[in-house]
Amino acid sequence: MKAVIPLAGRGTRLRPHTLTTPKPLVHVAGRPVMSYILDDLIDLGVTEVIFVIGYLGDVVKEYVAREYPTLTAHYVVQDVQDGTAGAVKLAEPFADGGELLILFVDTLFDADLSLARALDPEWAGVIWAKEVEDYQRFGVIVTDEHGAMTRIVEKPTEPVSKLANIGLYYIRDTDLLFRGIDHVLAAGLASTGEYYLTDAFQYMVDHGARIRTAPVGGWYDCGKVDALLETNAHLVATSRGGISPDAVVEGTEIVEPVRVEAGARLRGGTVGPNVTIEAGAVLEDAEVRHSIVGANARLVGVRLTDSMIGAEAHLEGIEGRVNVAEYAEIVVT
Ligand code: G1P
Repeated sequence: MKAVIPLAGRGTRLRPHTLTTPKPLVHVAGRPVMSYILDDLIDLGVTEVIFVIGYLGDVVKEYVAREYPTLTAHYVVQDVQDGTAGAVKLAEPFADGGELLILFVDTLFDADLSLARALDPEWAGVIWAKEVEDYQRFGVIVTDEHGAMTRIVEKPTEPVSKLANIGLYYIRDTDLLFRGIDHVLAAGLASTGEYYLTDAFQYMVDHGARIRTAPVGGWYDCGKVDALLETNAHLVATSRGGISPDAVVEGTEIVEPVRVEAGARLRGGTVGPNVTIEAGAVLEDAEVRHSIVGANARLVGVRLTDSMIGAEAHLEGIEGRVNVAEYAEIVVT
C-alpha cells in the first residue's frame, strides 16, 4: 500500500508562518503537523509515499529526506492549484494500479488506519468521516443502511447529511478511482473553479463500487491559527505535555497543561495553560496563555494569549494577541 499526500497549497490562512514554512511543516505541540501523520503511516507499514508538492516544495523534500530517510518518497509537482482531483491525478504514474491511502495533512485525526489492511473484499474503499454541526463547510456523505456511501455533496446548503468527509481515504480499486478522476477533469471545472476528488468517488459509486464510511474519534484542524492553537491545547493535554528535565524554570508559575522543551529557560511570570514553549526559547517575566512559542524565541515582559510566535522572534513589553513569524522583532520600551 502506498500513500498519496497532496501538499502543494500556499497555506494562506496560516500566514505569516507559511511565507517561509509549508503549511504541513508548521509546528504544533513541538513538531510539524505532517510528522504525526507520517509516523502513523510508518506504524501501519507504509514505506512509499507520493508527495504532491508545489509551493515551497523543496522545503518539504529536504524535511522528508532528513527526518524520514527510510521512506521511499516520490515527488510530483502541482503547478496549478485547481483542486484535489488534479492533485491526486498527478500521483497516478507512481500508483502502479495498487491500493492507495490518500491523506490531506492540514488536520490531525484519531482514525484506525489498520482498517485498510483488514477490509472485506466487497469494499472498493473507505472514507473516514465525522458528524459535524457546520456541515456547510465540508463535503458530506449520504450512506445506506450498511454504511456504504451513496452520495457525497460538497458544501451543501441543506443538511442532506452531517457526516463530514475529513479528507482521509483508502482506495483499493484505484483503476476505477483514476477513471473517475479523468471523468471529473474532462467534465470541466465545477462552479467553484476546482476539480473535486469527491466527485471521482461519486463516479466510483455510480459505477458500482461500494465505498464504506469509517468513524473518526478526534479530528483536529491545523489550517488556521485559532484552530492550530486548539489542536496544540489538545495535544499538550494528552500525548505531548510535560516539562523537559533539560529546561530551566525559575520562579515561573506553571499552569498545566504545558509543553516546555529542552533548553528553554523561564524566569518569573506565568506560563500556561495550553502553551508550547519550544527548545531554547527564553521567557523573562512573561505571562503566556494558550499559545505556541517557537524555538529560541525571546519574550521579555510580555502578556500574551492566543498567540503564535515564530522561532527566533524577539518580543518585549507587548500585551494582547500576536501572530508573528520567525525572526520578528517587536520591542516596546
Ligand atoms: C475538502 C473536501 C471536503 C472535505 C474537507 C475536509 O474541502 O473537498 O469534502 O470535507 O476537505 O477538510 P476543502 O476544505 O478543501 O474546501
